[in-house]
Amino acid sequence: MPLVPVRDLLFDARERGYAVGAFNCNNMEIVQAIVGAAQAERSPVIIQASQGAIKYAGLEYISALGRLAAEKATIPVALHLDHGTSFEQVVQCIRHGFSSVMIDGSKLSFEDNVSLTLEVIKVARAVGVSVEAELGKIGGTEDDITVSEREVALTDPQEAKEFAERTGVDALAVAIGTAHGVYKGKPELDFDRLREISNLIDIPIVLHGSSGVPEEDIRKAVQIGVRKVNIDTDVREAFMEGVKEVLVSSPEEIDPRKVLGPGREKMEERIRLKMRIFGSSGKA
Ligand code: G3H
Ligand code: ZN
Repeated sequence: MPLVPVRDLLFDARERGYAVGAFNCNNMEIVQAIVGAAQAERSPVIIQASQGAIKYAGLEYISALGRLAAEKATIPVALHLDHGTSFEQVVQCIRHGFSSVMIDGSKLSFEDNVSLTLEVIKVARAVGVSVEAELGKIGGTEDDITVSEREVALTDPQEAKEFAERTGVDALAVAIGTAHGVYKGKPELDFDRLREISNLIDIPIVLHGSSGVPEEDIRKAVQIGVRKVNIDTDVREAFMEGVKEVLVSSPEEIDPRKVLGPGREKMEERIRLKMRIFGSSGKA
């Protein structure tokens, strides 16, 4: 089926109290693992492309892979720009068929973040593409975007309310203690803050930096109101686990398919587990 906007997936997630997984992709094997897992679990799914993915694979390849995966699937699939950096990039992604975009104005002032988000919404809505914004600063590193511990700023619930009212954005990423990349210690999520935000805003909440967050914390966040859970690092780890197993047991292997294939299997298994935790399994 054709790609669907993230907004539609999150609407159903809110109605039925679960979250949709958004998994980062960089190549064909990852896209196949994401959609393979979604098919096997009968789960809606979001394939997303980060700045690093666009740099590595190129926008044309990423969008072609995402569109093809959706066309072949019998479950709803969205193709989403992750941490979009500019209005120009958003327009390029829309032109390449993305069904959803994130505009990350979290480094800007509140007012500039509102203005940029509104600018993106205006063009995206005109063509049925949904928009995610970010308020607060999420720590850690994703590709070449780094927010140091000093720069981290948890989302202010009142600001979130004002932001939601002024922009009417389709989904809002909030900073509640998660971080991008591998955690050094155990992540401490601020559930009171999440609850307050969830009580104040009527739009779906997005949790970034969700790899490595304990299963019970993810379940709790979904119960409170998170409707989109972003996962990148966990899938990368699964991929490399499969690849390394082959390289260790058969160091002479020269067939890339025999190396990447097991990586794809490991990713699919890991993604299926995530979908069960998010409650999206069986919802498509
Ligand atoms: O935007 C992508 C995510 O927030 C991924 O974060 O690599 O920590 O799972 P993660
Ligand atoms: Zn993120």
